[in-house]
Order: sequence, then structure tokens, then C-alpha cells
Amino acid sequence: MKQRPFFLTFEGIDGCGKTTQANMLEQSLLNRKLSVTHTFEPGGTVLGQKLRTILVHDELNLSLFAEVLLFAADRRQDIDEVIEPALKRGDIVIAERFADSSVAYQGVAGNVGRERVEQLMEIVTSGLVPNLTLLLDIDPRASLARKTDLDRIEQRGQFLDVVRYAFLDMAKSQPHRWVVIDAGRSASAVFRDVLDAVLSRLA
Ligand code: TMP
Repeated sequence: MKQRPFFLTFEGIDGCGKTTQANMLEQSLLNRKLSVTHTFEPGGTVLGQKLRTILVHDELNLSLFAEVLLFAADRRQDIDEVIEPALKRGDIVIAERFADSSVAYQGVAGNVGRERVEQLMEIVTSGLVPNLTLLLDIDPRASLARKTDLDRIEQRGQFLDVVRYAFLDMAKSQPHRWVVIDAGRSASAVFRDVLDAVLSRLA
């Protein structure tokens, strides 16, 4: 398979299995002798790790807009330090979450406003859009049963239902970029669909 730069993101609610699938995909692409860079947000850089602690664990009573700006800072650092250099090298970049997470979590579910967050993300990413976004779709009740450590964001009530439908709505409105995968199945069954979607686009 000929290598060319390709930017793919995993999206989905907490506990949907992004990290498991991203790791399996990375390994499978490496086995095919492809160059892969794997990152995640928040936290894929040293700055990102510090921001992740603030965003996910600290009780700072962050305002919703301040929260979006911290996710945005993490994202821009990830783009400048990891994603852009990797794409310039011709790598396949796998990112666990990107701008769509801010639109779903802060814009729609967090009430900052979808359009406002979309506009901010356009600036923050300088218009960088993934070639492919895999939505690992799962009922929040099933996904939360997989997690023991509910983070600060997850604890906000029935929030994840709203996040889930925000992602599904985005996927529906941009079918050329998004592939929705039923993540309520075994990791290996989900991975078959992940690999199919990725290989068919890389071909
Ligand atoms: P993770 O579960 O993918 O590690 O992400 C940590 C939390 O941060 C998770 O609850 C989703 C949330 N999040 C946002 O609210 N907005 C964002 O832009 C990103 C990247 C994550």
C-alpha cells in the first residue's frame, strides 16, 4: 500500500473504546509497514498533559467558555507539535478526539453553542479537518458500565446522551467524512469495521 498523509480521528462518548481501537489500528497499520503517529486530546503533548489534569481532574469551577479555550489550547499544541509535523512526514495520524469533541461536549451538551464552538475550532485548527472520522457509537449506560473512574465531565447528569446524539447528528450531516460504528459489540467485532473503513479509504 502506497503511503500518503492521512488524518483520521476517533470520536465517541466516554468509555466507547477509542483507546483500545486506536491501539489496535496503530498496530495493524504498523504491521503493514505504514508510518503511523498516534495522539490523543486532551493530553497528547507535555502542555496537553498539564491541561488534561486541569480539565479532567481538578475542581476549579471552570466556566464553560474557559473550558473550551483550554481544550482549544491543548488542540493547537497537539496540531503544532504532533499532527502537522507528522502529516508533513507523510504519516497516517490517528487522533483520539479532535475538534468534533469540543463541538459535541462544550458546544451542544455544554450549551456554549454549536456555532460558536465551530467558529472557534475553525480558527484553532486553521481549517484542518480529518480525512476520516470514526464514530464509535454506544449507549452511555453501556459505556459507563465499562468505566470505574467517572471524571469531572462525565458526572454532569445525563450529559452523555446529549453528546451521543450531537455526534450522530454531525455524522449524518457529513457522511463523506464520518463512519458510524456500533461500539456496543466485542472489541474484535468493532475492530473489523474500523479496519474495513480505514483500509478502504487508504486504498
Ligand atoms: P477521554 O475520555 O477521551 O480521555 O477525554 C477526557 C474527557 O474530556 C472526556 O470526558 C471528554 C472530554 N472532552 C471534552 O469535553 N471536549 C473536548 O474537546 C475533548 C477533546 C475532550
